[in-house]
Parts: sequence; C-alpha cells; structure tokens
Amino acid sequence: MNFAATLDHARACDAGDELAPLRAQFATPESQVYLCGHSLGLAPRAARQRVLEELEDWENLAVRGHHAARRPWIGYAETLSEGLAALTGAHPVEVVAMNSLTVNLHLMMASFYRPDARRFRVLIEAGAFSSDRHAVASQIAWHGFDPAEALIEIEPRAGEEVLRDADIESAIAAAGDSLALVLWPGLQFRSGQAFELGPIASAAHRTGARVGFDLAHAIGNLPLALHASDADFAVWCSYKFLNAGPGAIGGCFVHARHAGRVDLPRFAGWWGHAADSRFEMRAGFIPEPGAAGWALSNPPIFSTAPLLASLELFAVAGRPRLREKSRRLTAWLEFLLQRFVPEDIQLLTPSNPDRRGCQLSIRVRGGPRRGRRVFEALGEAGIVVDFREPDVIRIAPVPLYNRFEDCWHAAQALAAALARIPTA
Ligand SMILES: Cc1ncc(COP(=O)(O)O)c(C=O)c1O
Repeated sequence: MNFAATLDHARACDAGDELAPLRAQFATPESQVYLCGHSLGLAPRAARQRVLEELEDWENLAVRGHHAARRPWIGYAETLSEGLAALTGAHPVEVVAMNSLTVNLHLMMASFYRPDARRFRVLIEAGAFSSDRHAVASQIAWHGFDPAEALIEIEPRAGEEVLRDADIESAIAAAGDSLALVLWPGLQFRSGQAFELGPIASAAHRTGARVGFDLAHAIGNLPLALHASDADFAVWCSYKFLNAGPGAIGGCFVHARHAGRVDLPRFAGWWGHAADSRFEMRAGFIPEPGAAGWALSNPPIFSTAPLLASLELFAVAGRPRLREKSRRLTAWLEFLLQRFVPEDIQLLTPSNPDRRGCQLSIRVRGGPRRGRRVFEALGEAGIVVDFREPDVIRIAPVPLYNRFEDCWHAAQALAAALARIPTA
C-alpha cells in the first residue's frame, strides 16, 4: 500500500473512505482518540433509541409487551439470528444470542467436553484469556480429572511471539486419542494473531476430538466462516467489536450437524425447549432445533437492544468493505509505527494482513515499567488504548468508526512519549 507519512495523507485517506460517514453513527468520547474497540466498542447512536423503545414498551404494555411490543420480547433473540449468522458465516439455526461468553463456554463444554478414561485432554494456547483457562480447568476438575495432566497449553517457539500453524496441528496430532477437546481463539487477545479455523478444526476432528472457538476478538473484526470450518461450537461476547455495550448479551454457535441431536447431554432451561410447546410447561425437555436449543432463560432485553442497533450498521457497511478498510487502516498504523518509532517498539502482531484483524499489539523496548509509563503517557495525551500484563500495549483502529487521522495522532503521541521516557 502506498502511504506518505503526513497528516495531509491521513486526511486524504479519510476523505476517500466511503465508510467514513459511519463514524457519525457512533458516540465518540470528546477529546479522545479512541483505539480501544478490542476491549469495549463505542456506542452506536441508535442504541439509546433502541433501549428507550423497549423501556417505553415496558411502561406502556407491561406484560403484554412479550407479544405486543414493537419487537415482541418473546422472539427477541431470534431477531438477531440473521445478523449474527451473517457475521459468523453460519446458518441462522446455528447461532443464538444468550448469556455471556464464559457462561456459554461452560454450556458448550457441558455438551462437547465428555471426557472418559482414555480421551480426557483439552488443548488450548498458552497464555489463553484467564476466563477461558479457568473455565476449562474447572470443567476438567469437575469431571474428576487433574488439570495438570489434562490441560495441554501450546506455546510459540522460543524467541517467537506467535504460534505456527504446523506446531498447532502437530500438537493436536501428538495428543491423539487422549484429546477430547480443542478450544482455540479466532484471534489471540494479547498478540492479535488471527487463526485459520478450518485446518484447526480438521486436525482436531482427525484425532476424534471436538473443537470449539472463542471468537471474543474475532467476531465483527475478521471475516468468519464458522459453518464451513466445521467447528462443533463457538462462543463470543458482544461488547468489543459488536459494540453492544458493557456486559451485553453474548452468543453461541452450534454446528448444524448437531442441530437435531436430542441425545447430546446438555444443561437445559425452558428457553431452549421447543418454541411450539414451551408454554405447555410439561416435564419432558424437547430441545428447539439448533443453537437455540441451548438457551436457558428469556433474553435480557435491555442488554440486547443495543446489539440490534450495531448489527444494522454492520449490514450497512457490508463485510467485504469493512474488511478492506480494516486492512488498509491497520497497515497505515503499522506504517506509521515503523516510520516514527522503529527502534523503540516490537510489533507482536503478525505483519501478514491475513493473520490479524484490526488490533496491533506492541511491546515497548526497555522493559515492562517503561511500557506501562508509555501507556500512561498515551492516556494523558487522550489516546485511549489498553495495556495487558506483563508488557503489551494493544491499539485497535476499528473500521466502523476510526479514521486514518486517529492512527496519525496515536503514532505521534507514542513517538513523543517514547522520546520523553528513558529506557533505564
Ligand atoms: C478471549 C476472551 N475470553 C473470555 C472473556 C470473558 O468474557 P465474559 O466476561 O463475557 O464471560 C473475554 C473478555 O474480554 C475474552 O476477551
């Protein structure tokens, strides 16, 4: 890509960006350059309206709102299925909006992690997000196995920051028929490395293991083809790149080949019971076909309404255009970092655009203390990024609402902080 390291160039890129008008659809915190959508996405302006509409319907209709609200609450989760399916490359029957990520992970493991004396191991990446590791280790222990023996954690090779595909596949093969489950991220939260899901799922299935993906950092960020990947399940949250607000409703994918599997053990609740007989309130559980059969409770309308607003914006933008802008925007940020702070930082995220989303993770040379001070200086300069222990600064220009100019200001502030803060 042809870039020139000037503010004018950034502005020219913004002027030529056909998605630039979408920024106005988001509330952008004043006097901040917000590059933290990998942690909490900005609020779509329409979110307020969507939530107010639900409040009004509650005030005016009370219990009748379940059927008579403008978006009847009884079918509220279903109104999201098309949009979620489009974002994940799934069939609508394969996705459901429900709960939060870790809850969904446990529900999926209840069905897809069924260890026995021979096949009981779970393979994850070393340095996995703490909640995923807690969930996996606690499931292993709950089934009576020892996490020290059953949990396989794969690290990058010595001196490398990211995992090689071949090493992931050979670790899966090496675990062989002791492997019950592979739980893998779509995009690693600390390094920003994106993975090809299909080959990981195939490698897991070749050993007879099940495979699930954590898409917390991938959904809304990367193009996904969950159905084609053949994953057994996937889980995600909606407060990062899906912009649905703090603690928003999460989501879950269950592959269509499991859609009619009434034999699969699961933790059941009434909202997963077949919709046509749910209110008969009988004792026998008949699951709704597909991912919806794993729902437990009626959905929290106020934490779901903002997601509707956000999905509408994704539909307007279109995935190919968003991905195209994302590649350019992140390449621009990378170019600026290489140009202005080449010696002082190490880029941890792959340079290959197919192996990353919009997030770039950097390590500041000179140790974690300097890294933290630089991060704090960025905050003081109004650049909102985040810091992940022990020493990683994550910066994410989000194509729905960030500008090329934002990256320019971030790179300038970073260069200024690095010039000011000594290495020792
Ligand atoms: C990769 C990953 N897994 C799990 C979680 C936990 O999500 P929740 O609090 O919605 O369960 C997060 C939250 O940021 C995450 O990034």
